[in-house]
Amino acid sequence: MSTRLDARPLDRLVDFPAIPAGWAYLDTAATAQKPRPVIDAIARAYGETYATVHRGVYQRSADMTLAYEAARARVAAFIGAGSPNEIVYVRGATEAINLVAQSWGGTFLKPGDRILLSQLEHHSNIVPWQLLRDKVAIEIDVAPLTADGRIDLDAVEAMLTPQHKLVALAHVSNVLGSVLDVRRAANAAHNVGAKLLVDGCQAVPRLPVDVQALGADFYVFSGHKLYGPTGIGVLWARPELLDAMPPYQGGGSMIDRVSFERTTYAPPPTRFEAGTPHIVGALGLHAAIDYVESIGLEAIHAHETALVRQTRDALRSLNSVTLFGPEDSAGIVSFAVEGVHPHDVGTILDEGQVAIRAGHHCAQPLMEALGVPATARASFGVYNGPVDVEALVQGLQRVRRIFG
Ligand SMILES: Cc1ncc(COP(=O)(O)O)c(C=O)c1O
Repeated sequence: MSTRLDARPLDRLVDFPAIPAGWAYLDTAATAQKPRPVIDAIARAYGETYATVHRGVYQRSADMTLAYEAARARVAAFIGAGSPNEIVYVRGATEAINLVAQSWGGTFLKPGDRILLSQLEHHSNIVPWQLLRDKVAIEIDVAPLTADGRIDLDAVEAMLTPQHKLVALAHVSNVLGSVLDVRRAANAAHNVGAKLLVDGCQAVPRLPVDVQALGADFYVFSGHKLYGPTGIGVLWARPELLDAMPPYQGGGSMIDRVSFERTTYAPPPTRFEAGTPHIVGALGLHAAIDYVESIGLEAIHAHETALVRQTRDALRSLNSVTLFGPEDSAGIVSFAVEGVHPHDVGTILDEGQVAIRAGHHCAQPLMEALGVPATARASFGVYNGPVDVEALVQGLQRVRRIFG
């Protein structure tokens, strides 16, 4: 399929100043490079319009507050939230999941309640639930994967019981690129009275997402994987869930009234945003959303799907390469080269100006299921094109020459 993005690599030196000519950046699943409008928005915010938010009585601060809240409204519209008040700014997906685990889980889960995760989750959708288990004695169940590396929703449906209070799954796997049928997962969770938390870190940069249409109860993502700054991310939750949740952290901004006898809290989302926030991060996130929407998520998805197909076909023809994950994975291809450790693959590729990720990708239980200690992973973004896939293939031919 031909998309507007097919011509993008020609523009990328202008749009993405941190990508030098000849460098194949294939690590977008770790973090995306930043487009010029995001860099400009951050520079403008620090260099021209900077002030604190929510407190200042002076015009500059009032203007910055408007910009900060406009970014929240932009996020809400981008993911189909019902209102900006359903958007809680956090540091990233990791903090969002910890917030839900400690605040919602710590309040509403009781000893013996069960939650269901999957074998392919990122550590940030495993460890926060283990910390909660240490506190509340909940039980954690793990859904298996299908042979081609998707979360097995038949198994999810069979495993769920009325004891399950939460299902927490990745929308797109950061290792395999497998895309979850969120609607079906939501129905399965809701059929037993459980909530569904979706880790949208890898989905939001590569698929159109509408949290309400998907039927999710919590949805989380990080700004830096969406071409925005680090240190800003989003927790979306249904308003009745946020209303019922106690604060996660205490401090300035999140209160209604404070006295030594008793403190009352602000309504959501302010209740969950203690301290001076990442003001400029929010503005950068706004610019990032404008940028991806100027291209279109459908176009980005089509572009990345085409690159994945090209990559999988090319790597298969190298015949000493094992491919992981489904054929229709979204923007991410994990692989292994027979007899060569993924770190060596990554190092040799780097010598040829190809940047991939090698390791367990913060998904050690998935590595165990795949029966490998690590994989090599190429992941795509709007700035990649067929030229990057060719550079990867040439690099892998070099790996084979070096290792015989
Ligand atoms: C699927 C998934 N979930 C969660 C995370 C954690 O994101 P962050 O480190 O930005 O909080 C990542 C980051 O790699 C991810 O890929």
